[in-house]
Amino acid sequence: MLSIKNLDAFYGKLHVLWDVSLELGNECVGIFGPNGAGKTTLINCIVGLVKPQGGTVEFDNKTLLNQETFQIIRSGIAVVPQERELFPLMTAAENLEAGSAYIPAAHAKRKERLEFIFSIFPVLKLKSSLPAAVLSGGEQRMLTIARALMAYPKLLILDEPSTGLQPSLTTDLFLRLKQIRQSEGISILIAEQNVRQCLKAIDRGYVIENGKIVLQATAANLADNDYIRKSYLGL
Ligand SMILES: Nc1ncnc2c1ncn2[C@@H]1O[C@H](COP(=O)(O)OP(=O)(O)O)[C@@H](O)[C@H]1O
Ligand SMILES: [Mg+2]
Repeated sequence: MLSIKNLDAFYGKLHVLWDVSLELGNECVGIFGPNGAGKTTLINCIVGLVKPQGGTVEFDNKTLLNQETFQIIRSGIAVVPQERELFPLMTAAENLEAGSAYIPAAHAKRKERLEFIFSIFPVLKLKSSLPAAVLSGGEQRMLTIARALMAYPKLLILDEPSTGLQPSLTTDLFLRLKQIRQSEGISILIAEQNVRQCLKAIDRGYVIENGKIVLQATAANLADNDYIRKSYLGL
């Protein structure tokens, strides 16, 4: 589904991604790495916000590199950015509506989509008539994910979804992502620093450090890996 090969990306003279390759099929994949490792840059290369200097990015066997961001989104990729980027004065329901607004097929099916979304995030139904700004941090995070799901993506990409959430909400968030994956069968890519919690949701993971992929393995093998245990799990 998503195939990234030998990607090199720069900001000016700063070489940020070095020969990065990543494959994602119908599965949930994690990208782990410390702050500044290049996770967000990699996501931005997928959605056309950063133009790589070398390498390929393909989605369903079509290159994404010559496409504009709006075309890439229309082809079935939804991104939940690290900053919440909600419309604060619009209600939760209006924010959800906005998630389907640019995709006619999704807009036509938005009522049934809301039912599905409320089954995953019941609190959003309770608070649907409130302005997004008055929702708690955890609820706002759920709302950004729900808004992305309104577009019926084939691939959902989340950039550090656990940022700023307390541990119990983080556990809950990854459980719900797993639930979404199981009920929809969509592919999910999660960039995270919280490796311990994210491992519960993913099938496979990549570790990126200083812009280079240093390791890739199944979730079970990552959990057992000595380097991961020392550097990322504090064991
Ligand atoms: N817009 C930008 N301009 C210049 N340098 C950037 C920009 N965005 C990120 N960087 C640098 O690129 C590197 C990778 O950043 P980023 O992709 O944001 O990492 P991560 O998401 O893993 O924290 C870091 O050294 C960061 O300082
Ligand atoms: Mg980032």
